[in-house]
Amino acid sequence: MSRAAETSSATRINPVVELRRDGEIAVLAINSPPVNALSAQVREGIVEGVRQAGTDARVKAVVLHCEGRTFFAGADISEFGKPPKQPMLPEVVDFIEASSKPVVAALHGTALGGGLETALACHYRVAVPSAKCGFPEVKLGLLPGAGGTQRLPRLVGPERAMDMITSGSPVSAKVAKEMGIVDEIVDETDLLASAIAFARKLVAENRPLKKVRDLDDKIAAARGKPEIFEAFRKANARKFRGFQAPEYNIRCVEAAVNLPFDEGIKLERQLFQELVSGEQSAAQRHVFFAERQVWKIPDISDDTPTLPVKKVGVIGAGTMGGGISMNFANAGLPVTIVEAKPDALERGLGVIRRNYESTAKKGRMSMEDVERRMELLTGSLRLEDLADCDLIIEAVFENMAIKKEIFSKLDAIAKPGAILASNTSYLNVNEIAAMTKRPEHVLGMHFFSPANIMRLLEVVRGEKTDKRVIATAMQLGRQIGKIAVLVGVCHGFVGNRMLEPRQREANRLILEGAMPWDVDRVLYEFGFPMGPFAMADLAGLDIGWSRETSKGETAREILCEQDRRGQKTGAGFYDYDENRNAKPSELVEQIILDLSDKKGITRREISDQEILERCVYTMINEGAKILEEGIAIRSSDIDIVWINGYGWPVYRGGPMFYAEQVGLGKVLERLRAYEAKFGADFKPAALLERLVAEGKGFRDL
Ligand code: 3HC
Repeated sequence: MSRAAETSSATRINPVVELRRDGEIAVLAINSPPVNALSAQVREGIVEGVRQAGTDARVKAVVLHCEGRTFFAGADISEFGKPPKQPMLPEVVDFIEASSKPVVAALHGTALGGGLETALACHYRVAVPSAKCGFPEVKLGLLPGAGGTQRLPRLVGPERAMDMITSGSPVSAKVAKEMGIVDEIVDETDLLASAIAFARKLVAENRPLKKVRDLDDKIAAARGKPEIFEAFRKANARKFRGFQAPEYNIRCVEAAVNLPFDEGIKLERQLFQELVSGEQSAAQRHVFFAERQVWKIPDISDDTPTLPVKKVGVIGAGTMGGGISMNFANAGLPVTIVEAKPDALERGLGVIRRNYESTAKKGRMSMEDVERRMELLTGSLRLEDLADCDLIIEAVFENMAIKKEIFSKLDAIAKPGAILASNTSYLNVNEIAAMTKRPEHVLGMHFFSPANIMRLLEVVRGEKTDKRVIATAMQLGRQIGKIAVLVGVCHGFVGNRMLEPRQREANRLILEGAMPWDVDRVLYEFGFPMGPFAMADLAGLDIGWSRETSKGETAREILCEQDRRGQKTGAGFYDYDENRNAKPSELVEQIILDLSDKKGITRREISDQEILERCVYTMINEGAKILEEGIAIRSSDIDIVWINGYGWPVYRGGPMFYAEQVGLGKVLERLRAYEAKFGADFKPAALLERLVAEGKGFRDL
């Protein structure tokens, strides 16, 4: 037998796990693409590999290493909510930690969730500089359920542990090293060899088995000090509002500090079980997969060629145009912004600069970055200056005649192959496209205000839009950090179309007996950042209103006539103090009472339940029509629109997911009841009727 054969060997444990031996070091190699999630097969393989390494007398230490793009990115999320498969992750990590031979985790890519928990159960951790470590469970409505809440505080102290666990944000390898999570940073290009060398050193130096569970120095000082946790809760109360998981995570860290390890683990398991079987986590897991689904377009394959976009043109330097331009400058693309008048152009560029400078003041960008981005922006007063742009986005006033005129001019100016997009939020993209000789290069790109911040982008597919143009817009969306949702042409597309019935009901409810603050409170408590009336005050009540055309027939019109135009005038549906804190207004109450009277409506007591159902079930009904008409590809795309564009609470999974949690049967029954009382606006969508009759859900479509 050759020497090489004696000193090295490889055993395949299962299709995704292999145990190799390099002298006295065993390498447990996992290869489960795409992200080495800790599926049942992976877990089984780890246990078996550690067991075999343990019984092999030639092996003195083990390196745990993942192939492909990352160390374990966590538990396999698709297994949650299904019957559990043995061995469970907590048992796997215990098994690793109990190994009599040191186990070294070799980290690259993203060691997340259960992946990081597995690493923390190893006796040592080495990482390449580009590696990241984190506990994103909270984003799935969960907590690290395989010892993470108990081990991390023992390594980094409770404050930093709470920060990391409740934010879900990963830290870089460098920070992880400073915090004590990682023992050594190794050469980027040579992880496995470095990890093996590290393990050899451990053996040579006879270093002890370092078990995180036995550490106490970082948590001792916080023991018996509930005020530390109270202060953390208080400081984050706004951020955590409505979410169940952050509080559960904090309780686990508190237990890590105050209870023996095994008892802390018991609590962690109990709370994890509660969360994983609860509605919030189901919703947040749905959103995780929905965010990834949204990019998949059934009739446009992933390998559809995209068109090169190296230069962007934006028409309009107002709030929308400015925000849109910033997205591209942030991504390093030069933008030409065209305005009609010099002062408007100057004002627009000034606002952009101030926006960047305020980001720099907050320390999130350097002043050099501000200048670099401003240099990418060129102002112009001539549409002709857009001739060399690969993508031109029109972001002018929402008026069909103006848009048509711009597109017919653009058609003559833009180079062949350039994409012409409208940022319209309601209008018919087919009509706009028809003004050009290249409708296949026209589509909608509907940004949400403020466009440099809001994540949502509705990409509107016209009937003639070319597949490559759609693929390009989707890919650009990704490039500028948006979540792009492909929608079809209809009035208001997905988001604004569903907003309409909610707004209609809110306006009716205040005439029938509720007050604006009642409606707002119900929707706020449901989880929206604010209700429709507070929102209207923020946006300005006079959008689309003019004194000349005002009929004084709605509360909004009357308020505008009285110069109560929202927050900017210190008064709208609410009164505002100098810090813009809202207070219900007696004057508004009287205006509304008078208006009900004038319209001959006898006001009545309206329950919170009725407010919620009328505002939300009508949205769901509209969503069902949108699906029926094929305006959205799938129900989860609608959820993504509402979560990212309108503040729908992520722990309720989006309107369509929520409808299924409530039960489509119940939604249908309530819509029918309201239809009987209030008429056709509540008429259930045919799709809803059909799904209920067939015992199916939106997800079955
Ligand atoms: N389980 C199952 N599937 C997963 C997964 C996971 N943990 N992580 C990613 N995937 C899937 C995605 O759904 C996607 O599938 P698709 O190609 O069919 O759409 C594929 O892997 C690739 O993922 P991304 O498109 O997100 O790839 P990126 O390279 O952009 O990002 C990532 C990689 C940073 C690892 C990102 O996928 C991610 O953040 N994953 C989730 C990490 C996470 O939340 N881990 C914690 C899980 S919960 C847990 O561990 C509980 C434990 O404490 C007990």
